[in-house]
Amino acid sequence: MNILVTGGAGYIGSHTCIALLEAGHSVIIADNLCNSKREMIGKIMDIADKEVTFYEIDVSSAEAVNIIFENYKVDGIIHFAGLKAVGESVEKPLNYYYNNIVSTMVLAKVCQKYGVNRLVFSSSATVYGNNKVPFVETMDLLPTTNPYGETKAISERILTDIAIANPAYSVSLLRYFNPVGAHESGLIGEAPNGIPNNLMPYVTQVAKGKLEKLRIFGNDYPTVDGTGVRDYIHVVDLAEGHVAALENLTEGVHVYNLGTGKGTSVLELVKAFEEANAIEVPYEIVDRRPGDIASCYADASKAKRELGWTAKRDLLSMCRDAWQFEKKYKE
Ligand code: NAD
Ligand code: UD1
Repeated sequence: MNILVTGGAGYIGSHTCIALLEAGHSVIIADNLCNSKREMIGKIMDIADKEVTFYEIDVSSAEAVNIIFENYKVDGIIHFAGLKAVGESVEKPLNYYYNNIVSTMVLAKVCQKYGVNRLVFSSSATVYGNNKVPFVETMDLLPTTNPYGETKAISERILTDIAIANPAYSVSLLRYFNPVGAHESGLIGEAPNGIPNNLMPYVTQVAKGKLEKLRIFGNDYPTVDGTGVRDYIHVVDLAEGHVAALENLTEGVHVYNLGTGKGTSVLELVKAFEEANAIEVPYEIVDRRPGDIASCYADASKAKRELGWTAKRDLLSMCRDAWQFEKKYKE
């Protein structure tokens, strides 16, 4: 199939482009490079040893997106493009609502215009809010604590309503848990701008000596050791989950958790990182981070049952691959 990958130069998008190319699909990337670099396109082609087509465009512009559909027969879209920094979304809510929601509506409209019926959307486990773990797709969604989370919940609702009104439409809403790690080549991975907000990139930068020590946000949660529990998933497993979702897409709206189903505490992750890479990660315990929940992990059985997909890579490989990328990466 010819797949339009919006946000394909980003962290999850780039790994998914490689998985799509390896599965025999053709890839057109649309990305405005607001949180990624042009060199990623070359790296994707190098790793997969295949060509991709690249459009440097903003996908919230219908005119720009139309040009792609005028030039190519698009069979399906994977829509990753979006802003994703939770803290920034609280400071600049309009940027987040505009970018993330308008882009979803523009793509849905262009799909209608050109008769494209397959769409896979990047959602997030954040839409479950503070539900009881493990999170199951059938749970009622709870309010999230920030505009970023709301853009995901609203986009899910928009796509669901469109699919209900158009029976030929096939939509997959993928709720990611915590993607970490990097491609095994060490050539691509997560390279956040500035000081990382997320745990794994923070840990790798402490290990490299770029940051002095990890600050663990709270050790008084009702969890195994008091630190926050999350479902970390290797980004390559996540990428493969997208190929499975796309290839098994049928009419209607389908929601899938993409996680491992296993919760890991912050201290367990630090220990695994130290063990996998034989390197020490100094840390201190500080106050809880506002907006954090104690535990978040998936019931991952629906994706296994319906897509035949399950995460294969363990925590040690996530830690090894994340560290390998950090060591090679030069700003
Ligand atoms: P990323 O920032 O690395 O990738 C997003 C890409 O989209 C970037 O290359 C950026 O330049 C591009 N982009 C943003 N707005 C655009 C626009 N209007 N037009 C064109 N390109 C645009 O982020 P990621 O981690 O790869 O996340 C991909 C998607 O998955 C996002 O929608 C994100 O919200 C969602 N998600 C990510 C996580 C995570 O932990 N990384 C978790 C859950 C959901
Ligand atoms: C964050 C986002 C969430 C997004 C998810 C996916 C927030 C509040 N939430 O969630 O919306 O969907 O990323 O990537 O930003 N931790 C530390 N020290 C650090 C960093 C993190 O102790 O320096 C802890 C956190 O308290 C948490 C765990 O590590 O318990 C994971 O944190 P993080 O990687 O930021 O992910 P989430 O909080 O799950």
